[in-house]
Amino acid sequence: MSKVLAEDGRIYLRRLRVEDDLSNYLEWINDPEMNTYLSKKRKQSLGDLKSYIESHENNYLCGIFSRDNDSHLGNVLVSRIDNSNNNCHIGIFVGKESWGKGIGTSAVDLLSGYVLETKGFHKITAGVTKDNIGSSRLFEKSGYTLEFVAKEEFKLGDTYIDNLYYTKYNSK
Ligand SMILES: CC(C)(COP(=O)(O)OP(=O)(O)OC[C@H]1O[C@@H](n2cnc3c(N)ncnc32)[C@H](O)[C@@H]1OP(=O)(O)O)[C@@H](O)C(=O)NCCC(=O)NCCS
Repeated sequence: MSKVLAEDGRIYLRRLRVEDDLSNYLEWINDPEMNTYLSKKRKQSLGDLKSYIESHENNYLCGIFSRDNDSHLGNVLVSRIDNSNNNCHIGIFVGKESWGKGIGTSAVDLLSGYVLETKGFHKITAGVTKDNIGSSRLFEKSGYTLEFVAKEEFKLGDTYIDNLYYTKYNSK
């Protein structure tokens, strides 16, 4: 098992591995209610998920796990790491059985704290489709502020929707 990067009273984050049980993840990623605002909408196979995990070896693709029973609750990802300018990008994905319990906010708090405080990054960005109210609320609760709006960047059916870019800075 990979080492725990961050934890609080309820959850811990550790890097996902191809040998992890990915059955929950496979179900979530292929659920239209869960992937509406994600960029990958094509049906994913277990092999696709393993390739995705391998492609993020140099990023922080973390599973969110319950401290009670080690169940896999969702994922949080820091990617687009720019070591020259000390910035990176964060995304969040919580299994729908666990929505509305503060798990997403805790996971974003924990991984943001890890990259800003432990790893010394200066800035994290997060992109949220304007209609994704829960995600905007989550980032605001986690101390992110709206920095700019990219017009009509996300295609949902026949409609183009604005993307909101939230940011959080290292306070040091
Ligand atoms: C968006 C998502 C990550 C939220 O995760 P979560 O664990 O349910 O979020 P939290 O419980 O921490 O909730 C954070 C806040 O958002 C609110 N919220 C969550 N979902 C909401 C919704 N659908 N509508 C309105 N508010 C919502 C919560 O009430 C809470 O605010 P509050 O404390 O003031 O009540 C989750 O719904 C998800 O994974 N969705 C599918 C993937 C996705 O869209 N990811 C984001 C891509 S940017």
